[in-house]
Amino acid sequence: MRRRDDDSTPALHLRLGGTSVVLDVPRGALPGIVYWGPDLGDVSEEALDGLVAAARPQRVSGGLDHPARLTVLPLEHDGWQGTPGLIGSRAGAAFAPAFTVTETETDTDAAPSDTSAPTVTALTITADDADARLRLGVDLRLDENGLLHQTLRLTNTGDDVYDLHELAASFPLPHTAGEVLDTTGRHLRERTPQRHALTVGRYDRESRRGRPGADATLVLAAGTPGFGFERGLVHAVHLAWSGNHRVGVEKTIAGAVLTRVSELLAPGEVRLGPGESYETPEALGSWGDGLTELSGRYHRLLRSRPQHPSSTRPVTLNTWEAVYFDHDLARLSALADAGARVGAERFVLDDGWFRGRRDDTSALGDWYVDDEVWPDGLGPIIEHVTGLGLQFGLWVEPEMVSPDSDLARAHPEWILGPGPRLPMSGRQQQVLDLSNADVSAYLLERLDSLLRENDIAYLKWDHNRDLMEAGAGSPAHPAVHENVVALYALLDELRRRHPSVEIESCASGGARVDLGILARTDRIWASDCIDPIERLTIQKYTNLLVPYELMGAHVSGPRSHSTGRRHDLSLRAGVALPGHFGIEWDISSLEPEVEAELTSWVATHKRHRELLHHGTAVHADLPDASMDLRGVVSPDRRHALYTFTQVTASASYPPGPMTLPGLDDERMYRVALAEPTGALGGPGQSALAWAVEGVVVPGRALRLGGVQAPVLFPESLVLLEVTAA
Ligand code: DGJ
Repeated sequence: MRRRDDDSTPALHLRLGGTSVVLDVPRGALPGIVYWGPDLGDVSEEALDGLVAAARPQRVSGGLDHPARLTVLPLEHDGWQGTPGLIGSRAGAAFAPAFTVTETETDTDAAPSDTSAPTVTALTITADDADARLRLGVDLRLDENGLLHQTLRLTNTGDDVYDLHELAASFPLPHTAGEVLDTTGRHLRERTPQRHALTVGRYDRESRRGRPGADATLVLAAGTPGFGFERGLVHAVHLAWSGNHRVGVEKTIAGAVLTRVSELLAPGEVRLGPGESYETPEALGSWGDGLTELSGRYHRLLRSRPQHPSSTRPVTLNTWEAVYFDHDLARLSALADAGARVGAERFVLDDGWFRGRRDDTSALGDWYVDDEVWPDGLGPIIEHVTGLGLQFGLWVEPEMVSPDSDLARAHPEWILGPGPRLPMSGRQQQVLDLSNADVSAYLLERLDSLLRENDIAYLKWDHNRDLMEAGAGSPAHPAVHENVVALYALLDELRRRHPSVEIESCASGGARVDLGILARTDRIWASDCIDPIERLTIQKYTNLLVPYELMGAHVSGPRSHSTGRRHDLSLRAGVALPGHFGIEWDISSLEPEVEAELTSWVATHKRHRELLHHGTAVHADLPDASMDLRGVVSPDRRHALYTFTQVTASASYPPGPMTLPGLDDERMYRVALAEPTGALGGPGQSALAWAVEGVVVPGRALRLGGVQAPVLFPESLVLLEVTAA
């Protein structure tokens, strides 16, 4: 890091990964972001100053004598009359801080080209308020994917307690942002998109479940009205945190628009004693001309992590919907045999293997193999599975405890709660206080022993209830924050001891999906709903943040256990195809032709998984909501695989063209239906001209004009393969 000369230009230009951030840096005052978006190229100091001056608003009648500045920490001191970035006090005092910047450091990257100067990529500032006795640290950093990272730190430099209520990161948005997209959801229908106009006022999405929750928004996006996946300037922010949080968008009457994001702290949750600090979870902002470009930055970040799974994603056979709690060596061995026949590579023994766990009413916490169900331990099933050449995985839910368990009987004081009474139960269970060192030590010992004593390649780490009234200690204080920190420490230590063991983050399906948990796990379970029609939405919007190789996607039985609907295997498998593919279905006695069809879908996934798990995920913005076209394009854009799903009956007949996004405009491509073709059918239709032998079409024409979609029955799907001609 180099120290910046404080007498230099009051503007600073951060550039990396196709993104520019321009900051107004007046001497001594907190900097403010005046531009965040597409790279501006080499900009002279004069032009930077011009940009900052051009962005400065006028003073107006009836207002303050200086127009408000939107800084990295908006405060009343700067005339800010929207929500302050810092809220807290010393028993009512020190409620209106005013910081003076005491240190500014920048990080510089090599020049992007031979002719350009090295670019600044990061800014760290330290600022003090001698009266409020607070020190602020702000880190702003661009990465090579063009993501803007922000972390704030607050230190109590006084000698009494400072009660922190909120410390929020702010991401100013362009004035063109007029529409908000976020996701909501519930068990069995995570990541449902919702949109509305961005108007003056504040719109917040809060997570108060002690985990992000099924209804949490993965990102909060705001952009040019009507933005889609393919086009429209859009910005979004995600908080890398697995606990309570708030992410919102605010527009002031003075025209400032920003996304603000923070950990949601309960009263008394963070009380800074003398010298103590609080650091926010990292907030990550992205932008794109359309959501595909915006998401691609998060995907590339995840893929660039040293711990990103580098091996091909093993096709997984999970026992949950196949047998539920009916654990029986012969039955599970037969299931594993069938898995091996169809091409599965990993077998995951789900809930029900541990002492006293015959249903979901008891035994969580007693992490010892049940010797009634497994009289010889897990050895026989593990040997059977690994003997077939499959990896063995095991389900656990370490943070939870059943009141009806030996653990709860021995240690009632280990349970999170508001005091002597217990919080309302959820799935008949309670939550352990991992911030208690004895609890974390117990869990580490149990998990470590299981992994040392058994040949386990994979843990499905579940979390099946929201945290309510989650207090620790006596008298109890709010403890969600401490528990997230302790969970991360437990996962980190377990991974340090067992670096080759992969971990899945599951939480009542997909209720814990965030970059904090993904820093410590190898995939997420997107939803307990495996109905392919529901999964189309769930996976599309989970893909806003999570690339396909980290997203569990399984083929269920013909009748969905969560919706009761029936679907062809081609739809069930075709929708799961791009993800970390698996099977969750009792396949031990399939009809031979069904087993053969499943085998061919597993083979299809394996044939394409290199492309699917390294390429760019794209989604077409088709005007007909009954049609779904999505795909993955190879990094060199010479090869792509798309699925076309006729979700419901189209009002048009034939449904009309479908455009193919993500290809190279300048290249020629051969477009053909790919095997297995699924259910092309329906009465009275002729052959689709292009589908018989394929056609060669310019990339630009595929993007803008497309090809005629085949006439399909509703709720059916075909695959299209596109290769450079
Ligand atoms: C909830 C998970 O989402 C399911 O996949 C399954 O593992 C059950 N828990 C087991 O209790």
